[in-house]
Amino acid sequence: MTMDQTLIQTINKLQDAFNTVNVANPIDLPQIAVVGSQSSGKSSVLENIVGRDFLPRGSGIVTRRPLVLQLINRPNSRGEVGGVAAAEGTRASTTKAPTGEVEEWGEFLHIPGKKFTDFNEIRDEINRETETKVGKNAGVSPQPINLRIYSPNVLTLTLIDLPGLTKVAVGDQPKDIERLIKDMIMKFITKPNCIILSVTAANTDLANSDGLKLAREVDVEGVRTIGVLTKIDLMDPGTDVVDILANRTIPLRLGYVPVVNRGQRDIDNNKKISAALEAERNFFQNHSSYASKAQFCGTPFLARKLNLILMHHIKNTLPEIKAKIGAGLSKYQQELASLGDPMGSEEETQSNVVLNVITEFTNEYRSVLDGTSNDVSS
Ligand code: GDP
Ligand code: NA
Ligand code: MG
Repeated sequence: MTMDQTLIQTINKLQDAFNTVNVANPIDLPQIAVVGSQSSGKSSVLENIVGRDFLPRGSGIVTRRPLVLQLINRPNSRGEVGGVAAAEGTRASTTKAPTGEVEEWGEFLHIPGKKFTDFNEIRDEINRETETKVGKNAGVSPQPINLRIYSPNVLTLTLIDLPGLTKVAVGDQPKDIERLIKDMIMKFITKPNCIILSVTAANTDLANSDGLKLAREVDVEGVRTIGVLTKIDLMDPGTDVVDILANRTIPLRLGYVPVVNRGQRDIDNNKKISAALEAERNFFQNHSSYASKAQFCGTPFLARKLNLILMHHIKNTLPEIKAKIGAGLSKYQQELASLGDPMGSEEETQSNVVLNVITEFTNEYRSVLDGTSNDVSS
């Protein structure tokens, strides 16, 4: 296991420990928000990254409230921690451990305590909860739906699915729908900590990309925007995105990744994500424009790239994490000392958990935290 994976695991443990005792999380992991025109393929990209079918997708305005999707890594019953599912393309076909224990489930903030193990039910609940707030007829709301997915096959990170930019009001939408949706997106992407996944369909003109225009307004230098080009399979024969990938068209520091998601017919035919990922791999490997750079194409590469960005972020914020942990450590030591009773109340057990994890963390990463080294990569 590389040092990077260990670091992410330790960060996950630390976050869990703080969550257990309801202490504000000291580690501000980046959020990744997906922006782009309506039906550019935003929800499809997110699903492929998670490796499960659970988001409403389709033509027209399907995503009508922000979905704050917290992926939470938990080791499986064999104690193994998976990578990003799509990155390896080898996710388990079952969600149950040999012991029968469910290993992967979702929980909504608005239905505390209910575990959704059937991902189709997750999609139904997103639809139901959307309709409850904004009706059946294309209405939108900035009020997010919060969904957590616990799985051994994801990395702990937060992804935000957003309604697509649209210009013309339909159904129950107010006349100023364009501004409404823009404001909704801006609320998320103005945060300096937000990584912007700017999605553009490759069969449309990049210069007219709503997602890129919006990203540029808040990320002028293009340092926290990743370009994702969808629908490469729908481009006119003889055209390709090679110039864009070479950063010769609209340069982005983090570059562009081309992907092929499932088309509407695939969705109607219930094509599995695993089959879609394989088809995507074959597409890039066998296409004359992309064969030579196939390893930089597709969802697995995008997932790894997001993972790397997450690592860089953690490393960059280590000094801050160190300070916060230092403060937490002395606070818990004091609290522990004041508890006294060696038989252990529930709070004491919880404080102990936090203390142990923090101590473990600081010991493991002392050299990094002390600033003697800034490189924790292996
Ligand atoms: P969103 O509105 O941006 O969230 O877009 P969706 O993910 O809902 O996708 C809109 C439609 O485009 C759906 O019918 C998808 O099947 C289709 N779609 C998305 N990505 C691709 C792609 O890469 N290739 C093809 N052929 N269709 C795609
Ligand atoms: Na759509
Ligand atoms: Mg969508």
